Amino acid sequence: MAYEMIEVRVEAEKVGIITLNRPKALNALNDQLMNELGEALKAFDADKNIGCMIITGSEKAFAAGADIGAMAKYSFADAYGGDYITRNWEAIRSIRKPVIAAVSGYALGGGCELAMMCDFIIAADNARFGQPEIKLGVIPGAGGTQRLPRAVGKAKAMDLALTGRMMNADEAERASLVSRVVPVDKLMEEALGAAIIISGFSQLAVMAAKESVNRAFEGSLNDGVMFERRLFHALFATNDQKEGMDAFVNKRPAQFSNS
Ligand code: HXC
Repeated sequence: MAYEMIEVRVEAEKVGIITLNRPKALNALNDQLMNELGEALKAFDADKNIGCMIITGSEKAFAAGADIGAMAKYSFADAYGGDYITRNWEAIRSIRKPVIAAVSGYALGGGCELAMMCDFIIAADNARFGQPEIKLGVIPGAGGTQRLPRAVGKAKAMDLALTGRMMNADEAERASLVSRVVPVDKLMEEALGAAIIISGFSQLAVMAAKESVNRAFEGSLNDGVMFERRLFHALFATNDQKEGMDAFVNKRPAQFSNS
């Protein structure tokens, strides 16, 4: 499929990279862009050679939010009844392989929400995160009020959602919104390095780890621990578990076959 608002490439034969590419609008997320992003993610997820994906933007903006111009005239019926604003944001949640957000510059509103939908965020030192929807007379609409407090706690989430202020990369790292902060010119190298490491592991174990960590955010501790235990047990039915443990015992590198 030919894309107009994103660029897609494969690095190291196993990492799918999606670059949001609407520079004139600071990667504002309109329907076409979100549809293309969903298609690209699903295609990489279905590709057996791909072990991990990275979503990134430009140096100035990961994404400055949903497209305000496109939304400005929507009625309630348009927003609720249409197949846009948030409906086409759901694709990323169905992706089973890991997705890393490599964030440089602005990640605001829907841009911050998109980054938080990814499995973890690596930030450049110029990154700025925020949920400024309150300034537009609305609130976050793609999980911001739910994922932000889970990531940074109630106090900071309330502060950001109610004042609309931005936080810089240092504050985001202190608050545990991002997993690493690196100089802006090292962002893709760092993200790619992480993605290559992940892609070298058993895809079965990687998907199970992702699914299980996500459970920590979605249910009770008891349910999560039980879910994790069952997945852990289930992985003993795979060749990759035999291979991984045998390789360790025999002091040799593991050769995973995703089976
Ligand atoms: C549409 C946007 C945009 C957006 C920037 N642009 N953000 N267009 N939607 N979210 C456009 C500007 O209109 C401008 O176009 C160009 O990008 C450059 O932006 P400037 O404002 O000139 O740049 P700068 O002065 O550097 O300021 C950067 C900024 C500011 C601080 C990021 O653009 C800004 O505040 N943007 C809006 C951020 C925001 O409110 N996001 C939340 C959106 S609501 P022209 O044509 O004039 O050059 C949301 C809800 C999500 O995300 C709900 C889930 C679906």
